[in-house]
Amino acid sequence: MNMRNRNIEIRVPSEEELEAFCSAIAVGFGGTGTFEKEDLDSLLKFVGRIECWAAYDGERIVGSMGYIDFQTVSHDKRISTAGVTIVTVSPTHRRQGILTRMMNIAQRDAVDRGYAMASLYASEPPIYGRFGFGLAFSRENQKIARSKAVLIGSHQPEGVVRVADTKAQFADLQRIFRLAGVERPGWIDRSDLAWDHRLDDKEWGRHGDSELHCAIYYEGELAQGHVLYRRTGDDRTGLSVDELLALSRDAEYALWNYCFGIDLVEEISIRNRPLDDALPWMLRDSRALERVPQDSIWTRIFDVPAVLESRSYSGAGDLVIEVIDEAGGYAAGTFLLSASRDGATCASTDRSPDLTMDVAQLGSIAFGGTRPSVLERAGLIYENTPGALSKADGMFATRKAPWTVVDF
Ligand SMILES: CC(C)(COP(=O)(O)OP(=O)(O)OC[C@H]1O[C@@H](n2cnc3c(N)ncnc32)[C@H](O)[C@@H]1OP(=O)(O)O)[C@@H](O)C(=O)NCCC(=O)NCCS
Repeated sequence: MNMRNRNIEIRVPSEEELEAFCSAIAVGFGGTGTFEKEDLDSLLKFVGRIECWAAYDGERIVGSMGYIDFQTVSHDKRISTAGVTIVTVSPTHRRQGILTRMMNIAQRDAVDRGYAMASLYASEPPIYGRFGFGLAFSRENQKIARSKAVLIGSHQPEGVVRVADTKAQFADLQRIFRLAGVERPGWIDRSDLAWDHRLDDKEWGRHGDSELHCAIYYEGELAQGHVLYRRTGDDRTGLSVDELLALSRDAEYALWNYCFGIDLVEEISIRNRPLDDALPWMLRDSRALERVPQDSIWTRIFDVPAVLESRSYSGAGDLVIEVIDEAGGYAAGTFLLSASRDGATCASTDRSPDLTMDVAQLGSIAFGGTRPSVLERAGLIYENTPGALSKADGMFATRKAPWTVVDF
């Protein structure tokens, strides 16, 4: 243990300490620690519903960490996931090992409660690899001038786009969300808490943007896609598309056409699209779409069989994978993965490994976010049996790129 953090106590904050805990989170993220009442109430509600820990220097809270309970949905199977969040250490106490201690406690707790893995969004990529997290997949943000936002062809979808109310049409939004995740590896189910967060539209949370707008594409009475967006900028000439989910080609075409047809808009910013987004291919001038890749979810696997059995595979076959886990040892071992298009079994084995990798790299290939052979070229995966890499490339490939639209 770092000598300087010897006297730091890590424990679950009591009910009475939650307000100070929220202040510490704000300080850790660069704020002053003071809140408008509404902000505080909202954060209190959030931390009251998740597992959390605080680091105490005497009476003072100098660190925070928590995790949300959610399910990663993979090919209809569900993986119990600890969604790590509110990770902060006070600027006065950084680089003394406090995050390391909180993370070790939170991981032990998640394993004891039966979570198969943990996931998070990293503020900076170098932080979490040492704890066994690997980048599971990426996403992209896009931008386009409205004058260039023209779709190819003059396709006429059968259905109609209607301006919608997120409360009145909530059941339609839920249905679209659920079906949009089918065959999307890494899709995170949206809990009530996450829906609250997504549709929350308090004035103070808009940061100067307009209220949240919603439009839904209907074929008859069947909702087949939705878009959530805001007008941005002082003169409201910007449009921020925060979420667009489409269940059919018609829905996708109609919803983009709707966005591109909003009057007085000059520039459209589009947040969080999957890497296999169809939009660039739908545009007359694909180069006009600025595309900026960004890392999305980082995953730390605890239970290798539970995660690898939760998906189907593009190729059938057996693969013996040795997993090194120096960050806790939870995933360490050698596993025989017997996969087919319908599913897989995975169990410890004493056979010699075809591939050897760290648990972080297993997190990077588990949902098809990157090919094993790319990580081998990067010196991160070792091929012990000639041919095993190309076999693994084929098996782990997914039809759709992994994606999630849930922020936490
Ligand atoms: C990121 C943060 C929580 C790290 O807390 P910390 O207590 O300083 O981390 P630790 O002392 O346990 O660090 C453990 C190791 O990770 C390294 N590390 C920590 N933060 C790092 C960073 N931002 N970039 C690179 N390395 C980092 C440390 O150098 C240390 O390595 P070492 O033992 O070899 O020196 C803290 O800097 C912070 O609160 N940052 C602002 C809020 C934030 O970004 N939170 C993360 C949200 S996802």
